[in-house]
Amino acid sequence: MKDTNKEHRIIVVGCGAMSNHWIQMATRRDDCAIVALVDPDLANAKRRKDDYSLTAVTYSNLSEALAAEEANLVFDVTPPQYHQETVMTALKAGCDVFGEKPMSDTLAEAERMVECSEATGREYFVMQNRRYVPGLWTLREFLVDKRLGTVGQISADFQLGPRFRGFRTEMDSPLIADMAIHTFDAARFLTGQNAVSVYCHEFNPSWSWYKGAANAVCIFEMEDGSVFDYRGSWCANGMVTSWEAQWRVSCSEGVVFWDGGERLDYEQIVPEGCRGSKSGTGTIELKRENVTLLPMPLTGHDACVSEMFAALQSGKRPQTDCRDNIHSIRMVYKAIESAKTGKRLML
Ligand SMILES: NC(=O)c1ccc[n+]([C@@H]2O[C@H](COP(=O)([O-])OP(=O)(O)OC[C@H]3O[C@@H](n4cnc5c(N)ncnc54)[C@H](O)[C@@H]3O)[C@@H](O)[C@H]2O)c1
Repeated sequence: MKDTNKEHRIIVVGCGAMSNHWIQMATRRDDCAIVALVDPDLANAKRRKDDYSLTAVTYSNLSEALAAEEANLVFDVTPPQYHQETVMTALKAGCDVFGEKPMSDTLAEAERMVECSEATGREYFVMQNRRYVPGLWTLREFLVDKRLGTVGQISADFQLGPRFRGFRTEMDSPLIADMAIHTFDAARFLTGQNAVSVYCHEFNPSWSWYKGAANAVCIFEMEDGSVFDYRGSWCANGMVTSWEAQWRVSCSEGVVFWDGGERLDYEQIVPEGCRGSKSGTGTIELKRENVTLLPMPLTGHDACVSEMFAALQSGKRPQTDCRDNIHSIRMVYKAIESAKTGKRLML
């Protein structure tokens, strides 16, 4: 039987791997009903319906589902090249959209999606789950407090070697277009600054199992003149980092290091008057401390989606509103353009 009494009547579009998370998040809430599952491969939609014993109706296309169901919210969990069509179709039909990252596979399309959200007056919020991680939040609070003075350089090292199947192996820029959005967005989150320029060198090592460039080095200049440098590989053969990357932030009075997991340490220059007798002229004395990570009630996808639902209720935009997220996606596509042209580009 259809459940149309719930506040959020949801169509899930794209019933692949990530749809599991989205369906679970909705089914855990009392105010949500999944009314339809859409996938051009109907077997995928039917599988999800059975997996979660849903009453939802299955469709092979979103327009049909929108015409038949009284939905007011769409989850876009399709591959990136289908995001624009999915999101704009849903917004124009009067639904709000929570969508997977990245907003789109081109910057021009992502900009049109923001315009469409504004023109229709419907909300479009983007999943940026890797913003909601205790280490990242603790590091951000640490930097906001200016305990080490002014930030000069933010360095992120991302080294992993996942053996994906599917769309990522065929993309031109799998690392930058599909993954680096998280790290770039984290740099904006940490510093509170948008990027103003980028130089990127993208390449595919001889041992890479991807068709497109699996490695990249990017240099971003941020609004306040600080520099964010990114070194990434999606075909690392060892010494891997966390999925959150490994971070080093160099400040005027010290350096803070986050390993992307539980370890957050800093070294701070001891002021001259407080130094021990061992420090000779011309040397600096450092004190090293560990920072305890802040607890977070919810993390990852759950935290991001919870903020999205709260935003629909309060009207207060979430952090990952499309108008904010466009600044992260711009970093992605300007980096790719820089790699293609060999030029430093303004954002
Ligand atoms: N936030 C994260 O941490 C995270 C992690 C993995 C994937 N993702 C994102 O989630 C999205 C989906 O990734 P996935 O791993 O589930 O991919 P997937 O390939 O497993 O599934 C995609 C599904 O979408 C279906 N599909 C294709 N075109 C469609 C269309 N026009 N309309 C409806 N359905 C369509 C496919 O048939 C498939 O079932 C991507 O944008 C990806 O970047 C995010």
